[in-house]
Amino acid sequence: MICLVTGGAGFIGSHLVDRLLLEKHEVICLDNFDPYYNPSIKREHIKSAISAEKFSLVEGDIRNRKQVEDIVKDNSVEIIYHLAAQAGVRVSIENPSKTHDINATGTLNILEAARSLGVKKVINASSSSVYGKMKYLPFDEEHPKNPVSPYGASKVAAEHYCRIFYEIYGLRTTSLRYFTVYGERIRPDLAISIFTKKALNSEPIEIYGDGNYTRDFTYIDDAVQATILAMNKGDGEIYNIGSGKRITINGLAEKIIAITGNKSKIIHTAAKKGEAEHTLANIEKAKKGLGWEPKIDITDGLKLYVDIKGLH
Ligand SMILES: NC(=O)c1ccc[n+]([C@@H]2O[C@H](COP(=O)([O-])OP(=O)(O)OC[C@H]3O[C@@H](n4cnc5c(N)ncnc54)[C@H](O)[C@@H]3O)[C@@H](O)[C@H]2O)c1
Repeated sequence: MICLVTGGAGFIGSHLVDRLLLEKHEVICLDNFDPYYNPSIKREHIKSAISAEKFSLVEGDIRNRKQVEDIVKDNSVEIIYHLAAQAGVRVSIENPSKTHDINATGTLNILEAARSLGVKKVINASSSSVYGKMKYLPFDEEHPKNPVSPYGASKVAAEHYCRIFYEIYGLRTTSLRYFTVYGERIRPDLAISIFTKKALNSEPIEIYGDGNYTRDFTYIDDAVQATILAMNKGDGEIYNIGSGKRITINGLAEKIIAITGNKSKIIHTAAKKGEAEHTLANIEKAKKGLGWEPKIDITDGLKLYVDIKGLH
């Protein structure tokens, strides 16, 4: 298949690129190396892909519809894995318009190009942030969507566009609601990345609020596997992609400290706005619809991650 991966130099996107190349697909990576975090980290992510014969990199912006259309047309793209986004809750609170432009309008550009140029399928990276205010746990896909950040709202919009393009135009789309993904190349703004760095240096770990809020964490290989499976399954559907288990943020910090064998102290500071109190995925729909199951639990995933970080 000829696959376009938007955001292919990012954390999840670059792992997906590697996996698609391994499976002998042709891969075009579209990324604008947004400075949200250091772009040199993103160049490092795609270092091995760059030398692959079936890989090409286009430095461009999904907000530019003409550019997206040209890339799809010139490369005869068959499948689009749409991962480019302004990720991150806090930055969306600082600049909601940028988040909307990239995540909502950018997704619309992708869908418009796909529909007009005969792309076979679009797989859209959504997020557990669409749920926001918890009514019950675990979140199944029918749980009300009341996001608590502009980021969550932009992801709701993108999901709806994907569903509507399927229902009205017959463009095959699948949205995957990833629950906090972690592993090698994790975004530097995510808690697991920050806590591990601190623990490896025996520095204090800062937790916003009381640390009793909980998260469902998904290991990168499990997230990528679900994304690959969506190429041929789940048309018009939305799936939760999580581990189906949760841990408190205090518990997470304690686990990381224990795995590193270091002696960081945990300190609590004021809670931040825009964060959901709890996330936990009901993954029954993805098990049935995609034939997918997570393989790596948080303890094993953290050990793998800390081993990689420790070597650097
Ligand atoms: N990491 C997680 O825990 C998580 C959880 C839920 C959903 N997601 C979603 O998964 C996707 C990938 O997330 P990630 O953690 O790998 O983030 P990331 O920031 O590492 O990757 C996103 C990539 O998109 C690129 N990008 C940003 N704006 C762009 C634009 N206008 N045009 C082209 N490229 C652009 C960035 O440069 C970056 O390389 C995103 O859609 C994110 O919202 C991630």
